[in-house]
Amino acid sequence: MYFEKISVAPMLDWTDRHYRYFMRLISQHTVLYTEMLVADAIIHGQRDKLLEFNQDEQHLVLQLGGSNPEKLAQAAIIAKEHGYTEFNLNCGCPSDKVQVGNFGASLMSDPILVSECINAINEATGLPTTLKHRIGLDYEYSYDFVANFVRYLSERTNCTKFIVHARNAILKGLSPKQNRDVPPLKYDYVYQLKQDFPNLHILINGGIKTTNDIDTHLSQVDGAMLGREAYYNPYLFADFDQRYFGSSKPIKTRFEVATQMIPYLENILENHGKLHYATRHMIGLYHGCKHAKLWRQTLTTKLIHNNSIDEYKELVSYMVE
Ligand SMILES: Cc1cc2nc3c(=O)[nH]c(=O)nc-3n(C[C@H](O)[C@H](O)[C@H](O)COP(=O)(O)O)c2cc1C
Repeated sequence: MYFEKISVAPMLDWTDRHYRYFMRLISQHTVLYTEMLVADAIIHGQRDKLLEFNQDEQHLVLQLGGSNPEKLAQAAIIAKEHGYTEFNLNCGCPSDKVQVGNFGASLMSDPILVSECINAINEATGLPTTLKHRIGLDYEYSYDFVANFVRYLSERTNCTKFIVHARNAILKGLSPKQNRDVPPLKYDYVYQLKQDFPNLHILINGGIKTTNDIDTHLSQVDGAMLGREAYYNPYLFADFDQRYFGSSKPIKTRFEVATQMIPYLENILENHGKLHYATRHMIGLYHGCKHAKLWRQTLTTKLIHNNSIDEYKELVSYMVE
């Protein structure tokens, strides 16, 4: 299993392949996750488009959504053929759509089914399969709920990596967005999981924003997964290879990252795509810097309108630090 001290969370519509390529320029070693892909979409949809990724994105984990073991296994086999080497099952998403399919966070109430799903993927592909889940469902706030979930899965499957979003999922009455903010964070539950299951890889997620936050968590658990902060402030990750993965390579400047995106953007145009496919994910690159507003405004107006690589190059030339 890949050593995963720091990772970027799976985020629908955000962590697509363009974002991941951009993020990989900033950090070589941070583990990246796809958006959640529903098993049925992989089996019946435009699988090549959904599963496409650039080899430079590795180490990359495919997050699967679903609760039918056979379908998950079938989807995982297809994904393996496309080059994926690790899977993660979503047991944390509270959206209504996902609840209709009886997967995502609601799966936490059925650890037997989760074990069948994990084992099916694992047996079909021979590849590591991990879980991302919450600490509780609705108003069930006891530590035992999540501890029993982790215990059961660790005993009945080969899953050794548990990514724990340190909040309950409230299935009725809160939107997915509210479910990322309203239920209180209980980091101590995740720390306790590491105490109680020292041989498992316990990764913590939820509300992590700074290297101070990360360092505090890493003194208690094996890894930290960042979601929104990785999107809004991607350059936070610029020294993570050195800080967390022992790399001695020089840290890239924002200007270098912006410049290194040029061949990638040119390639999008050559394939009749829009620069915006990738630049929409790059808005946060200059977060907190002098020319942040110029960068943001140009990416979100002129560049969308004109789709011109020359305008992008001109913008980058203004951004020398
Ligand atoms: C736009 C968006 C989309 C998300 N999509 C997914 C998803 O596909 N799968 C998943 O497990 N979690 C998803 N999440 C939840 C994140 O992975 C993460 O657990 C959550 O945002 C808490 O981490 P954070 O506080 O660092 O953002 C999404 C979050 C956001 C903001």
